[in-house]
Amino acid sequence: SLTHYERLPRALIIVNHDGTIMWIGHDVEPRSVSNTIEQKVAEVKASSEGKVHIELTLLNDGEFIMPGFIDTHTHAPQVPNMGIGGQLTLLDWLDQVTYPMEGNFTNPEFAKKVYPEVVRKFIAYGTTTCCYYGTSHLEATKVLADVVLQLGMSFSQRALVGKCNMNRDCPDDVKEPDVDTALDETKEIIMYIRSLNSDLVHPVVTPRFAISCTDKLLCDLGKIVKSDKKLATQTHIAENTDEYEETMSLFPERKSYADVYDHFGLLNERTILAHGVYLNDLDLEIIKENNSGISHCPTSNFNLTSGMAKVGEILDRGIKVILTHVPCGYTQRMVLIQQIRQVGLGTDVSGGFLPSMITAIQHASICSKMVALQRKDSNDPSDETFAGKPLKISTLLYLATLGGASLCCMEDKIGSFVKGKSFDALIVSVRTETGNPAIWSPRDEFSRGGGKFVSDDYDEAVASKTLDTWLERFFFGGDDRNIRKVFVQGKCIGGKHVHPHSDAQL
Ligand code: GUN
Ligand code: FE
Repeated sequence: SLTHYERLPRALIIVNHDGTIMWIGHDVEPRSVSNTIEQKVAEVKASSEGKVHIELTLLNDGEFIMPGFIDTHTHAPQVPNMGIGGQLTLLDWLDQVTYPMEGNFTNPEFAKKVYPEVVRKFIAYGTTTCCYYGTSHLEATKVLADVVLQLGMSFSQRALVGKCNMNRDCPDDVKEPDVDTALDETKEIIMYIRSLNSDLVHPVVTPRFAISCTDKLLCDLGKIVKSDKKLATQTHIAENTDEYEETMSLFPERKSYADVYDHFGLLNERTILAHGVYLNDLDLEIIKENNSGISHCPTSNFNLTSGMAKVGEILDRGIKVILTHVPCGYTQRMVLIQQIRQVGLGTDVSGGFLPSMITAIQHASICSKMVALQRKDSNDPSDETFAGKPLKISTLLYLATLGGASLCCMEDKIGSFVKGKSFDALIVSVRTETGNPAIWSPRDEFSRGGGKFVSDDYDEAVASKTLDTWLERFFFGGDDRNIRKVFVQGKCIGGKHVHPHSDAQL
């Protein structure tokens, strides 16, 4: 949850051949691991006609397993621009750096060259589910969907893929010639992605942002969204002050930025709104009423000097104070009613300069600390509100995994380890052998009296504390070199253990 995560120092997870989690054993004694496995195998054999094939992955000293990262907002065609353009702010950056790069995707051959590398990079950083913007080009966006699905090979990243819609205030090579073409191509990409017939890749309706779409385009996209209860929508909102102002001048009838999208029927519980740095009360009310979610993109918000999103305040929307009787008297307890449907994290490449959710976690943490510094809120530990406080490790973990799953309406399937969910996971190593000098050896931890997972003097509390330390060290000192294996739907699709030319590498 937003405030709590479980760590299981002696766990055994059994994954079905279809990639779903079949069983999670807590506190499995090392001595009884093989017995437990034998027993589970016998159960599977009894319930299935066919042969049982078993693959066993054991964690080494200094490794842990966690749910894969869910990147709720990023731009695949901007990966070739990573690291440049950060001297500009949003609207100039779009004109001078971003649209010129996206223009290259007029040629699908360019997409075929670039997108495999793009998807490989996101996977290497541990992103098991990625919500991609493509460009406005139909053929190039088909290439992106194909690449994510690995052109029919037996493994794939999980993704939402959207063809960008934009028909004003941009160069001709990224601008859609007319609304009818934009709509036809949007319908075609939806059909195309669905025809791939994969449970892993889904379409998402993608108006770039209000400034780059005419009223008619937004209105007609809203009709598509309303007519299809399975379709997700993604767009940008309230990222930058100039952008907010320009939006209001283009839509003078509307009361706020969110009101523009709401007016055209683009907000529902499957809508992902990126940034939300300058949302006002009315915006937040409208978003809450529609059950839409927000993708927090702090790396990009810092890099393009956009600002600091008040994530704590957003999380607090929908918190109701109730009084509960506890033995020592009456006390206040907070109950979260999930009305701002969920908040996730996004890398927003190349506004963000790395395809790394670890970097997004670091910047989300720093952002919350700087926002807290500017406010003077209560430090009362019994006060469970988020506004004006640094985000806890549990909250950061939640935003990067289950919060993102919820934002993508996939919380039944991914985001945490629960029986029946898909096994989308990372094996993380905090051993120095990964080559990452920022990470210490877990043996140091043991020699300082850290948790022992296997020995006779095993102490669960101490072992749990060790896992807490490893997770925090990974979040703040780690990078892709610490990610040993990346699994989607039970299949290993990448990670540092993979030989560059083995078939599991993209
Ligand atoms: N607003 C409209 N387009 C974009 C984009 O490509 N990146 C970011 N960060 N904001 C946008
Ligand atoms: Fe973006």
